Amino acid sequence: MKSTNIKWHRSKITTPEIEDKQGHKGCVLWFTGLSASGKSTLAVELERRLFDSGHRVTVLDGDNVRHGLNKNLGFSQEDREENIRRISEVAKLFRAVGMIVITAFISPYRRDRDMARALFNDNSFKEFYVKCNIDECKKRDPKGLYQKAIDGVIKEFTGISAPYEAPETPELVVETDKNDIETCVNQIIEYLKESKVIDINGDSGII
Ligand code: ADX
Repeated sequence: MKSTNIKWHRSKITTPEIEDKQGHKGCVLWFTGLSASGKSTLAVELERRLFDSGHRVTVLDGDNVRHGLNKNLGFSQEDREENIRRISEVAKLFRAVGMIVITAFISPYRRDRDMARALFNDNSFKEFYVKCNIDECKKRDPKGLYQKAIDGVIKEFTGISAPYEAPETPELVVETDKNDIETCVNQIIEYLKESKVIDINGDSGII
């Protein structure tokens, strides 16, 4: 920590007060998985469903965040750690104002995901493993990046020339190589309902 002589200023509005007023809790739904596993697609589908049923929700997406906030970061282990550190702090800010934050980052290192989880001491952080076998990801290759990585044009590409550490105890696993997007979104919504993540009054409004 480089900053010294700094002091925390409290808001006069508390998180529970906001949650009470809006009718649902805030939380962080952390998607992790290989590139092309379906994280972003699932994230925006889930965002739509939650928004349409009256929830305050936003998506933080790897490719998008790397256009702005994190444009000075690359894909070394160190830069990926900093990427996740910043995102988890941003997620914490949004969560503190009651939002449901869906994050879609490869976040390949277990240690970085655990660091993100550790920022939330109220059980509001949920890790969802978006599982898809690498052959299917290579076949999808929507941005042509797997081919470039195989050809050696892109270095340190997750799953080809950089590691992906699958979660050991995620809250939920969705398998996009076995199920379609709608099924996976429904599985996530079922989980959120069952575990009462977003249902404080027994009526989440989600259909
Ligand atoms: S993370 O590893 O730091 O969590 P993040 O989710 O932000 O990654 O960004 C991943 C996206 O960046 C991929 O979906 C892909 O479009 C792009 N990308 C470019 N280079 C790489 C690389 N070397 N490894 C993985 N993804 C890359």
